[in-house]
Amino acid sequence: MAVKSLFITATDTDAGKTFVSCLLLQGLAARSEKAVGVKPIAAGTNDQNQNGDALLLQRHSGIALPYQLINPICYQAPVAPHLAAVNEQQPISEAKLDQTLEQWQQLPLQWLLIEGAGGWLLPLDGQRYLADWVAKQQLPVVLIVGMKLGCLNHAMLTVREIARSGCQLLGWVANCVDPDMALAEQNIADLQQRIPAPCLGVVPYRPDNNEQVALNLASSLLRTSGCNTR
Ligand SMILES: Nc1ncnc2c1ncn2[C@@H]1O[C@H](COP(=O)(O)OP(=O)(O)O)[C@@H](O)[C@H]1O
Ligand SMILES: [Mg+2]
Repeated sequence: MAVKSLFITATDTDAGKTFVSCLLLQGLAARSEKAVGVKPIAAGTNDQNQNGDALLLQRHSGIALPYQLINPICYQAPVAPHLAAVNEQQPISEAKLDQTLEQWQQLPLQWLLIEGAGGWLLPLDGQRYLADWVAKQQLPVVLIVGMKLGCLNHAMLTVREIARSGCQLLGWVANCVDPDMALAEQNIADLQQRIPAPCLGVVPYRPDNNEQVALNLASSLLRTSGCNTR
């Protein structure tokens, strides 16, 4: 069974990668699709040396996986991972990313959601970016746009750079992180017209019908990737 692997990126940190990934995992489970969310690189841990995003993804995944497999590279300080890597004397190993991706892709799954860290151009060291690894692995990308003033610039910079890298932008999600955003609907319509990939859904601020939002997102994803048109 071939695992469909997606890389989840965003316009910025705190744009909703984890929030939307958990909704997607919930929706895929409701559609009887086995899905797992992983966090290859995390920075910022609790007193058990575990990262909050990775724990949320673990909790929403359709297979119980050990923490180490969900989050193979983890730094204690909640800072840019490549800087934590220097301070904590553990360089970010691309070989480890490659090996872990292979392990994930051998799991009995339909979907693997790989949450990035920060935005698209997350540095791995002085030269490389996580985006280079995503391009090397040819992972299709889903872009989470945190809807707030300034997001049109961030979204279009990211869309251009994803295209330049040679990756496929499978779709994007409008995530309403600011309940007071002026002209939110017009901003979403504007992005729909600019981004050359389908909008997989609009996630309201603190959705009160999580299950329906999750189901709609998963259905759009299945439709977009040609899996199912139900
Ligand atoms: N649609 C939303 N409504 C309300 N809160 C949200 C929404 N999306 C994200 N958040 C909250 O915003 C914060 C940042 O979201 P998160 O998913 O952690 O971002 P990222 O993974 O991109 O850094 C979290 O506290 C999350 O619960
Ligand atoms: Mg996150």
